[in-house]
Amino acid sequence: MNKDEIKNLLNSMTLDEKIGQLYQTIYTGSANTGPTFNTSNVIIDLKKGLIGSILGLCDNKVIYDLQKVAVEETRLHIPLLFCNDIIHGCRTIFPINLAMSCSWNVDLIEKASKVAAFESSHSGVHLTFSPMLDLTRDPRWGRVMEGNGEDPYLSSKLASSYVKGYQQKNISGENAIASCAKHFVGYGACVGGRDYDSVDMSDTMLYNFYLPPFKEAINSDVKMVMSGFHSYNNLPVTGNGYLLKKTLRKKLKFKGVTISDYNSVSELINHKVCKNEYDAANLAFNAGLDIEMVSDCYINNLKELINNNKISLKDLDEKVYSVLMLKNELGLFENPYGKIYPDFEKYFLLDDSVTTAKEVASESIVLLENDGTLPLNKFNKTLFIGPFVDEKKVIGSWGGKANFNDTITLKEALDNKKYNYCYIENYINKDCGIDISEVKKYDFDTIVYTIGETQSESGESRSKVDLTIPKIQDQLLDELIKLNKKIILVIFAGRPLILTKYKDYFENKLISGIVYAWFLGTTSGEVLIDTLYGHINPSGKLSMTFPNSIGQIPIYYNRNSSGRPFKENENNEYRLRYIDCSLKPLYPFGYGKSYSNFEYSNIYLDKDIMSKKSKIKVSCNVTNNSNIGGKEIVQLYIECLCGKYVRPIKELKGFKKIYLKPKETKNVSFYLSYKDLAFYVNDKLNYDYGDYLIYLGPNSDLNNYCKIKFIEQ
Ligand code: GLC
Repeated sequence: MNKDEIKNLLNSMTLDEKIGQLYQTIYTGSANTGPTFNTSNVIIDLKKGLIGSILGLCDNKVIYDLQKVAVEETRLHIPLLFCNDIIHGCRTIFPINLAMSCSWNVDLIEKASKVAAFESSHSGVHLTFSPMLDLTRDPRWGRVMEGNGEDPYLSSKLASSYVKGYQQKNISGENAIASCAKHFVGYGACVGGRDYDSVDMSDTMLYNFYLPPFKEAINSDVKMVMSGFHSYNNLPVTGNGYLLKKTLRKKLKFKGVTISDYNSVSELINHKVCKNEYDAANLAFNAGLDIEMVSDCYINNLKELINNNKISLKDLDEKVYSVLMLKNELGLFENPYGKIYPDFEKYFLLDDSVTTAKEVASESIVLLENDGTLPLNKFNKTLFIGPFVDEKKVIGSWGGKANFNDTITLKEALDNKKYNYCYIENYINKDCGIDISEVKKYDFDTIVYTIGETQSESGESRSKVDLTIPKIQDQLLDELIKLNKKIILVIFAGRPLILTKYKDYFENKLISGIVYAWFLGTTSGEVLIDTLYGHINPSGKLSMTFPNSIGQIPIYYNRNSSGRPFKENENNEYRLRYIDCSLKPLYPFGYGKSYSNFEYSNIYLDKDIMSKKSKIKVSCNVTNNSNIGGKEIVQLYIECLCGKYVRPIKELKGFKKIYLKPKETKNVSFYLSYKDLAFYVNDKLNYDYGDYLIYLGPNSDLNNYCKIKFIEQ
């Protein structure tokens, strides 16, 4: 339909029908199990035109039946919008988003999002509540697994990849879906890493760190933005006009639809900023919220609010119009059943989809330590032990339409490849102690020991204060060390864990390697085995800092400079430091090893003066000094030596992922423009003229730099 036809439809709607378009309910369950929610009134309300969209459906038969009611049994035949949480794959499950962000591969993540969109758009999903763009600096927060880490530049590039991959050229395309940037804004900065706790930050922090990924998603034409559960500077985002109107609409120029998070409109009462649902509807509506997800403050109160002149019919029409336009852009008026394929299962797990999942998983693994024992020799006998060797639940939280049986485990991959290995499942005795008598019956050269947290310990409402490895796993490690074999740790987690003990063990030659496996999704076991045995050369680099101690949290590379900066080898106690722990992280942002050995040289600037009229070309040589071809993520950071406001000690402003054949050298170059030097002061973009240091290297812990001057011309 064209805009006039949409306007005519809008004008023909009753007040109830308009309000209905702003109501999203949940309906789960399947045709044979029936609804698993108390949704008996869904069909009744639907027939009255009182429901605009539905969340969480996985069964095409149910989706079809509901759409049929909307299209054929309502007065105006307005189709339903079906939404779901497809955040790292639909049925072909990709690594958790935090793991994927460690690939730093913008094209590959776009490709993965296309696969997710393909499977979703053939199984009744019109819109996914993804990408999650919350900057994350606190691994106690369980939802770090959904995000792209701690850096605004990397997160912004990946935000664009997700939106373009989901939406492609047109969201009405048969392989495309609409996407939703969430959780606007600052949700990852919750106090104490406690999910749903409050957030406070300055505009300088908001504009320099937490907004850029949303800005990039909006520039990539994301269709929806979801408000977070949290309060922001003492006003819940869901009722925060400063964020939803002034910032999102005026500053970021977002023109799409806003939606609350699950029940977050009614939760304004729990925040104690509203006395009842009437007030909650009033606050959220006037703050700029369009669709209410699941709670029914709008459906029960908007009519009265209009009659009491608390909200305007004009505003209501504007909101309903944007929802109708989204449905129209999806092609739902012309083809409401277009994405509901009865035989949808045949579109799942296609070879190309699984191949893409393998590619992404192979670039998401982060090799933290290796004394040369990796890659393993398949002819040598290796003991595999630990809780994840034959575990299928390694796809991570928010598994879309996953079936755990699809997951290839490490053991299955070993069997498929007929490698020389043994697997010991039992090592805990009746007193819950460690018993490796079974292990001692076997002869082997190397041990691969899988440890970590289960996938149910990260995700929503999974904040933790203890990020260490479970004690029983440590006890087994200490027993295994007594066997004097080469030990490789493979760590499964949805967040950075505290690995200080294992790095010490490595440095004291008690273990030979540490591989961070995150939760890699459907192809987990196969990709891990290919990595351990060298068919894949790991190239992932950390998108979140790994702390030395939980006491360092929040810890991130781009922290502000201080009046008393810590200086190595200076014995001044009055410096930024801990008296009982290093200031440095265990592993810095951007860190990750390879089986190759990359060396940087010849960092070069084509000029050292920059203005708004000129760019600077920064380049260096990267050499692969090994006999193994591999990928390297070259990173460019700046450091402002004097700004109007205090700035971070380093700021990522560029990265390139390159492949180097054995012994190959490549020249890698970047162009820096004045825009890369900008830094917000409050909500105003600001340019600091003066000296900057430019760093080029393999991670954020760099000391060698070149100096440039940014002049006002
Ligand atoms: C959840 C999450 C949000 C998700 C929504 C719908 O509580 O906070 O990320 O998209 O509800 O499932």
